[in-house]
Amino acid sequence: MAADLGSVAAKLAAPGKGLLASDESTGTIGKRLEKAGLPNTEDIRRAYRELYYTTPGMGQYISGVIMFKETLYQSTAAGRRFVDVLADAGIMAGIKVDEGLAPLPGGGDGETYTKGLEGLEAACREYASAGAKFAKWRATLKVTDSLPSDLAVERNAEDLARYAKVCQECGLVPVVEPEILIDGAHSQARFGVVTERVLGATVAALWRHGVALEGCLLKPQMVIPGAEAEGGKVSAGEVARHTVAALRRVVPPAIPGIMFLSGGQTEEEATINLDAINKEARAVGRCPWALSFSFGRALQASVLKLWSSDQTRVTEAQQLALALARVNSEAALGQYSL
Ligand code: 13P
Repeated sequence: MAADLGSVAAKLAAPGKGLLASDESTGTIGKRLEKAGLPNTEDIRRAYRELYYTTPGMGQYISGVIMFKETLYQSTAAGRRFVDVLADAGIMAGIKVDEGLAPLPGGGDGETYTKGLEGLEAACREYASAGAKFAKWRATLKVTDSLPSDLAVERNAEDLARYAKVCQECGLVPVVEPEILIDGAHSQARFGVVTERVLGATVAALWRHGVALEGCLLKPQMVIPGAEAEGGKVSAGEVARHTVAALRRVVPPAIPGIMFLSGGQTEEEATINLDAINKEARAVGRCPWALSFSFGRALQASVLKLWSSDQTRVTEAQQLALALARVNSEAALGQYSL
């Protein structure tokens, strides 16, 4: 492994720092902009990203931002490349390299694999020369009484490992994201069992493909009940207990950081749960990794709402963005208090 990969991964997972997932595809960000009453034009997308990337002080809490390829090549209104603005703030640029989901042939109802392996090496080399230091690939797994199928677990683990290996060969730190979806009525306990199975298969595939674990990061979901589960939501303490138990069973200490996605939790829930996870990890011990965030919606929802109501309120929106980053930084240290 290039020594660099380990040091980039360690910096991304530095104590109290996390990732901003601002890599929504043009279609996904479009849905969020349109819901907020804004048109999905390139300039609006660019201005919205600029708001985050130029927020003074962001580098105290955010070590890296994940970008969509359009954004990687964009610049501020004043003409400075985003990648350079971020580097000046001590923030590394990351790039989403997957090409979205497709139905998995032979899989169960609604199961998917992730597109993008073809041409991946050339794309990674180009992104690295444009200034990217790390990458992200998202696979999704669906839970029912009988799913995920063995095929979906194995295929997605295998593809994540192939992606991770290609990234490392091109000098990018891979963020490995096997997201188990919260849609469905499954219990928290069942979600925990599936999480162990999926993360276990993913780690085994990384190992099989010769991926250097010191130079990659894991991006799982927290272990919460399904969105339609009987009994509804559970306490942060329960989220923490199930999440930490699953991670301790399957994630090797060589992986420097576990950077959770927010996956449809509210901003407040995601922060409180992350804080509880860190407190639980400290209490039970033998949790050697950083337990931090790689949030999309939980770092952006209220900021987009404010900015979309009046795009001249940039300073206020930036203060809100910084406040959200700060509370999640505190939570990543287990030091958040309401
Ligand atoms: P959310 O935090 O909104 O789930 O997004 C994180 C992400 O990058 C999903 O791929």
